[in-house]
Amino acid sequence: MAFSLRTVLPRSIARPIPRIAPIALHRRYSSAGASAVAADNGEQPFFPDEPRAPIVKTQIPGPESQKAIERLSKVFDTRSLNMMTNYQRSYGNYIADLDGNVLLDVYAQIASIPVGYNNPSLLLAATSPEMASAIINRPALGNFPQHDWADILETGILSVAPKGLGQVFTAQAGSDANELAYKAAFMWKRQHQRGGSHIEFTDHEISSAMTNQSPGAPQLSILSFKSAFHGRLFGSLSTTRSKPIHKLDIPAFDWPQAPFPALKYPLDQFAAENAAEEQRCLEETERLIKEWHNPPAAVVVEPIQSEGGDNHASPNFFRGLRELTKKHDILFIVDEVQTGVGATGKFWAHEHWGLSSPPDMVTFSKKAQTAGYYYGNNELRPNKAYRQFNTWMGDPARAILFRAIVQEIKRLNLVENTAVTGDYLYNGLAQLAKKYPNEIQNLRGQGQGTFIAWDSGRRDEVLKRGKSVGINIGGSGEKAVRLRPMLVFQKHHADILLESLEKIFKS
Ligand SMILES: Cc1ncc(COP(=O)(O)O)c(C=O)c1O
Repeated sequence: MAFSLRTVLPRSIARPIPRIAPIALHRRYSSAGASAVAADNGEQPFFPDEPRAPIVKTQIPGPESQKAIERLSKVFDTRSLNMMTNYQRSYGNYIADLDGNVLLDVYAQIASIPVGYNNPSLLLAATSPEMASAIINRPALGNFPQHDWADILETGILSVAPKGLGQVFTAQAGSDANELAYKAAFMWKRQHQRGGSHIEFTDHEISSAMTNQSPGAPQLSILSFKSAFHGRLFGSLSTTRSKPIHKLDIPAFDWPQAPFPALKYPLDQFAAENAAEEQRCLEETERLIKEWHNPPAAVVVEPIQSEGGDNHASPNFFRGLRELTKKHDILFIVDEVQTGVGATGKFWAHEHWGLSSPPDMVTFSKKAQTAGYYYGNNELRPNKAYRQFNTWMGDPARAILFRAIVQEIKRLNLVENTAVTGDYLYNGLAQLAKKYPNEIQNLRGQGQGTFIAWDSGRRDEVLKRGKSVGINIGGSGEKAVRLRPMLVFQKHHADILLESLEKIFKS
């Protein structure tokens, strides 16, 4: 019997246990669940049987984790390891290790877990015959799309498409999504310059393309911003400007980098200065668009620069960018790999901006668990088949998973939850910032859901001490503490987080 995803379910996370339920069997927390805590503030918990609070039994890594790390190190580079994790024992907002420690996770696999570990709805989707078929019969989608691919797209990825962008090119990861978008932009630009999609390539273009020379391989560029992060593959890495360690030793394209506004906080005290700073950045962006020796075919920007330190700019700045791209007939690519799928209290962060016309392309990955770029203009399909192509061109299994994620987000109203919880959390942090001004500097993300960050003079120590008080928390840039909880993060979790942070600040 197939499981019906259309079954009407109550507004609780509880689900019938699917035939295959490997996870629930391994999860044995104490009887005290989240329901007791949440009942205190009238909130209905999404995961009533989550732990009531973090459980810290040993130093992290504890002895069992240390053994596992040692073993893994022999066959896999563990120098970037943060925490050896037991995913069977992780649940909801809580991440478990091998030593009985269970931490409140506000980092969520680098902002990529949307609706909680071992979410029962996702388990249903994952154990469906449809999913099994997608996994074991993985199609080469460009050549042999599965018969229900349109249905999977329309009821999943495209059901949450940004306004005006009704088509998608699916991909594997964030970097891949961006590179594909860049390629679409270059082909669009050249097609435009040639005078339309019907104009054939010249012999010179064809032969020079094969020697990596212009005009076949044209001297065009993608303009990105200082401190931006768009990925680590060759093309995307050339637009990444966050840290040298990502770029060292890798050949790069000669592409322009515009300044990203460096806003001063609190915003209301520096309104005039910040407006001037954004104007300066827009002017410099326009100068680069006009003068850079390899002219840009597109501007790519993150709604909130994430890896580069959680740098924000106002809607006005982004509206300005959109106008510049239109004025100079280049494309506007919004990289929503980290900001997308609800984290800012809107499904897509660029919805906060009030643009006069949609971006030309919006890239996504992370919480979508699949990746790609949305677009609307048919001219962004290259004029010939196979120009934008690869073996898999995405993955129906991951697209089915995203559909289940979208259904869960809608069923539990999780974008709204993130907006409301984010306001609550931000206010709590603002109070803490008053009490501990040296610990929380430049608090940012007001009105942006739970996409909140601040600067700390002892950032790395704060992150490390987080584990000892039961929270798994990440950083961004050189000195920011960044919060990237899941969409199922609620006020009672925010209370735990605030209390834990205060413990760190007091120590
Ligand atoms: C804004 C943004 N774009 C692109 C990427 C690259 O995504 P991936 O690591 O999946 O290639 C990231 C990853 O952190 C990101 O934050």
